[in-house]
Amino acid sequence: MSTKTTIARVGDFAGQAVTLEGWLYNKRSSGKIQFLQVRDGTGFIQCVAVKSEVGEEVFAACDALSQESSLRVTGLVRADDRAPGGYELTVQHVEAIQISHEYPITHKEHGVDFLMEHRHLWLRVPRQRALLRIRAEVERAVADFLDGNGFTRVDPPALTPSSCEDTTELFQTQYFDQEAYLTQSGQMYMEAAAMALGKVYSAGPAFRAEKSKTRRHLIEFWMIEPEMAFVEHEENLKIQEQFVSHIVKHVLNHCENELHTLGRDIQALSRVEAPFPRMSYDEAIDWLQKHDFDIQWGDDFGSPHETALANQFDRPLFIERYPTAIKAFYMQPDPNRPEVVLCADMLAPEGYGEIIGGSQRIHDYALLKQRFEEHKLPEDTYAWYLDLRKYGSVPHSGFGLGLERTIAWICGIEHIREAIAFPRTLYRLYP
Ligand code: 4AD
Ligand code: MG
Repeated sequence: MSTKTTIARVGDFAGQAVTLEGWLYNKRSSGKIQFLQVRDGTGFIQCVAVKSEVGEEVFAACDALSQESSLRVTGLVRADDRAPGGYELTVQHVEAIQISHEYPITHKEHGVDFLMEHRHLWLRVPRQRALLRIRAEVERAVADFLDGNGFTRVDPPALTPSSCEDTTELFQTQYFDQEAYLTQSGQMYMEAAAMALGKVYSAGPAFRAEKSKTRRHLIEFWMIEPEMAFVEHEENLKIQEQFVSHIVKHVLNHCENELHTLGRDIQALSRVEAPFPRMSYDEAIDWLQKHDFDIQWGDDFGSPHETALANQFDRPLFIERYPTAIKAFYMQPDPNRPEVVLCADMLAPEGYGEIIGGSQRIHDYALLKQRFEEHKLPEDTYAWYLDLRKYGSVPHSGFGLGLERTIAWICGIEHIREAIAFPRTLYRLYP
């Protein structure tokens, strides 16, 4: 008799017979011995079938298994220091569930376009599995931290009548006889929720019809958006640095194997601890000018600026108080200097750019109304948002953490598209 288990748990069954269900990842053969590399989603294990032990029939069944055939294998678990997971399986029986024919992704190198076209299959390799596992752990760390600190999760709508960020990036769609947009950010709805529940957060997709084809941009990305009543700029930054430190620590503690699979420099990650360095926008402009960048006060930063600024530090960097003119309409001006707003972007080290955008929000009715006029935003679609400043308005702040950028940085991967299972990019909607 054998126990059905998973590769991740075979260590509990050393010396015993187990049955594993999975897929053939790779195979080597030396005529009388076959080495089957089997994966089951929880890990990879080498299963060794010796012809003289298993007999002709089982050996032939092993022989018939092609790459990515699904199978059920029974065998004895054997501890082996040389094996990647510490164990091997001595095959007793093999049953093919379905034989795979001409699996398109071979063990040769493939170009990224080919791999993206086969993303539904590409997910099966160790590297992609590691990325998805880390993504899930990042999401768990997000929930642990926020749920544990008095936040309530609230889910804002995906279909909206108005924009929250740059109107040029709206993803338009038809809502019966009205025009609607896919959400760019749930922030405004989260502000309403914060006035009901105090501290809230959302976690879901955001859509930006940005025509940018950089390694930092997706058309559909996930954003975590905490929003907090009675929290002002300074406290907002403190929460962000604790939040990000917690996420990184959680991944270090729970994803050692996955980080190893990705070849991530663990040392760099272990230095990520609050407090994070800070620079004002003014200081950042000075620094850039001193380092020969052609940039003036009032300009927004591009990727090269962000990378250069962040590379001075071994942990994320806050840049605070950007010019009012280049930031969103809802940001609270600095009371001492209304030409800048009480906002901050968090830039990840190692060239990953902005992972968080956040700010204190305008809570004064008249000022917000004035901003709607300046930004030529239709007041009727935003009437409910103004209402929040009419009925018990309080200072409040929040931020949006870009999930894929955070994952790309933690995992040390080149391009953000591998940080989500099915990326939506400028030229790709399939699969
Ligand atoms: O800075 P953003 O645009 O801020 C907002 O949307 C605010 N309403 C958030 C808030 O205060 N509640 O976006 C926040 C973060 C960025 O720092 C970045 O990490 C990520 O979302 N992001 C993107 N990630 C991938 N692809 C894109 N096209 C992204 N645009 C923004
Ligand atoms: Mg931003």
